[in-house]
Formats: sequence, structure tokens, C-alpha cells
Amino acid sequence: MTVIQPALQHARAVVPPLAARARSVGGSPLRDILAVTARPEVINFAGGLPAPELFDREGIAAAFRDVLAETPAQALQYATTEGEPILRTGLAARISARGLATDADDLLITTGSQQGLSLLATALLDPGDAVLVEDPCYLAALQAFGFAGARVVAVPGDAHGVDVRALEELVARERPKFFYTVPTFQNPTGRTLPAERRAAVAEVAARCGLWIVEDDPYGELRYEGERVPWIASYPGAEDRTALLGSFSKVMAPGVRLGWLRAPAALRRACVVAKQAADLHTPTVNQLAAARYLTGLDAHVARVRDVYRERRDAMLAGLPGALPEGSTWGRPEGGMFLWARLPQSYDTTALLPKVVQQDVAYVPGAPFYAGEPDPSTLRLCFVTQTPEEIGEGLKRLRKGLRS
Ligand SMILES: Cc1ncc(COP(=O)(O)O)c(C=O)c1O
Repeated sequence: MTVIQPALQHARAVVPPLAARARSVGGSPLRDILAVTARPEVINFAGGLPAPELFDREGIAAAFRDVLAETPAQALQYATTEGEPILRTGLAARISARGLATDADDLLITTGSQQGLSLLATALLDPGDAVLVEDPCYLAALQAFGFAGARVVAVPGDAHGVDVRALEELVARERPKFFYTVPTFQNPTGRTLPAERRAAVAEVAARCGLWIVEDDPYGELRYEGERVPWIASYPGAEDRTALLGSFSKVMAPGVRLGWLRAPAALRRACVVAKQAADLHTPTVNQLAAARYLTGLDAHVARVRDVYRERRDAMLAGLPGALPEGSTWGRPEGGMFLWARLPQSYDTTALLPKVVQQDVAYVPGAPFYAGEPDPSTLRLCFVTQTPEEIGEGLKRLRKGLRS
């Protein structure tokens, strides 16, 4: 005889819905595009992937081996939320050497700089709070702020970055909690904010009462020109800037290591938010990275040389690949190049035809928090060899003409 469980005698009630923020924030359109372009024959200028053949497999393996051989009990154990002191000390020395005096205790180690963005959103944002962002803006930052229920407002800019006068007007109008910026080799545009504008951003933040979230995963990948100091180092910004850095573009994104430098009260709030998120960043990765820091400059120098060639290959091929009337930037570093096709082109609509030619880019539209410019696109120039870049651009030319 079958026994019917009491609960199953009734119609099954629906489960409660997802939180409103989970329903309103969609997945990254970029991830969807990457899924379509995963076929091995596609020359993929869409992903923001560091060149895998340049990962220092030997050096990184040696660092992990040494850590596990010498300090296994520490490496495999739980650790403090703030991060391993040896890594924070090494990073503080690097940051100080770049002109921003920093103590190990000023730093929180994060699980990638993406986590830094989420922690700052948790620590600073109440639902409905305004956040100012560059237009266009790094996509996953828009997601992180959207998840916190922020009202994201775009600040206009030009080929050199944010328009500081517009920033000041929007600060007065929107009373935002913070301005989020990637001032050096920005994702997606590749542009770099000049020193005078950095000083002006710091001054606006000081005068108007505003946090600055300065995200710098690409700064060490400079191929030409002089380094521009962090906004955090300009007068007025000292006590109101959260600076984010990452190992992803200089060592390997798979180790998921980043850091956050922030004034004490904000940093403490981020520490508490991180306790709730993941307790701490993997100890073994932190200790291996601390060892790897000694060889990091030499590795970054090698990567820079290769990436510079790749950027130049893309710059050389673009005039033949893009339709007449297109314009594009010349990034001094980083991984991305931003192009604007003539107005009649819609890069989102064109992408399926382009992918048929076994090449891919990211349409510019999703990067805009404000009014999108449908004729823009982002190309990543670091993942392929110069030969592959040349071939990819030929295919792009065909795809854009079809
Ligand atoms: C501007 C920007 N910020 C943050 C990140 C996230 O990097 P991480 O791998 O350190 O989490 C990226 C990654 O592409 C990025 O472009």
C-alpha cells in the first residue's frame, strides 16, 4: 500500500520570489557574448583576457611549492579577514614606492578587485543612493552597484576622461555617495585621465563631500608615456579615496587576488562586509603572491613588451579594417581599444554577422549607464599574437561589410 505523505496531499505552494535586486540586475551581457564566441576558431577580441602563454607558470608554481613546503600549517589554515601581513607589507612597499605613502594596515586583501567593489557598495550604499560613474563604465561595476540598489548616474566625458565640470554639477544635483572611476587605461575606452583633471576631481570631492572609488587594475601595463599619479595622492583626496588594485592583469586572474586601500573607518566597514562574504581570501594564494612579489616587476616588464607589440599591431591594422569615417583611441597602456564607427552602424546588430566570420568584439552599448552610443565597440588587443590580430582584423573588415 502506498503511503501518501501529508504534505503531498495538498497542491504545492509556490516558493517566495527572489529578492527585488536579484530580479532587477541581469547577468553580464559580456558573459553571454563570451559564451557565443567560445568556439576555438573565433579570434576573440571581446574577452578581457590576459595572454595565457605569458602566465609565469614556473615562477608561480615555485611560489606555491615553497609556501606549501615551508609553511603548510599557515598556508592551509583559516586566516584573518584583513589579509596576510606579509602580503600587505609587500604591497604597501610597492604602493609607497609609487608615490602614495601606505602602511600594511591601510590595506585589505580582497578576492579580486571585483570583491573590493562589492564590499564598498555594501559599506557605503543604501538602496536608492546615487553613485556617479564614467560614461562608458566598467560593466561589472555597474552590476555591483546595481545589486546594492544604487541609482547609477553617468557623468559625461571626452577622449581624456571625465568632464570635471559636469561631475561637479551632478554632485550638487544628485548628492551621490561616491564617484567610481578607472582613471588609467580605462575599461572599456583605454583612456587615461590627465594629471590636472585628477587634481580637479580630488578638489571637487574635498569641497563637495564625496567619496572617490579609484579602480586601477591596469596602471602597471604602461607601454609609453609618463605615469600619472593616483587620484588618491592629490590634495583633498587623502581621506576620501578608496583605491583598488589587482593581481589579475600582472600575475594571473585565476589567483583571485586584489587589494583595497581606504581610510580607517571605511576600511573597517569593508572588513566586516568581507567577513560576511567569504571570511578571508585564500591563505595559500596570498602567501604565494607575497613570495612572487619579488619577481613581479621583471615579469610585468616582459608582459609589457609583448602587449605593446600587440597594441601596435592592432593600431596598424585598424585603418584597413574599420569603415571609412571610424575613429579610435591610442591607449598608452592597458588592454583595450575603443572605436566609434560611422553613425549608421549599430555594433550590437552587426555582431552576429561578424561572429560568422570567426571574429568577435564587444558592442559598446552595454557599457553606458547613460544614453548608449550604438556605433561604438571595444577591442581587447592583448590576447592574440600580432599575426592573429592581423587575421582577426581582416575577418572584422569582412564582417562589418557583410
Ligand atoms: C576596471 C576593472 N575593475 C575591476 C576588475 C576586476 O578584476 P579582478 O580580477 O581583480 O576582480 C576588472 C576586470 O576586468 C576591471 O576591468
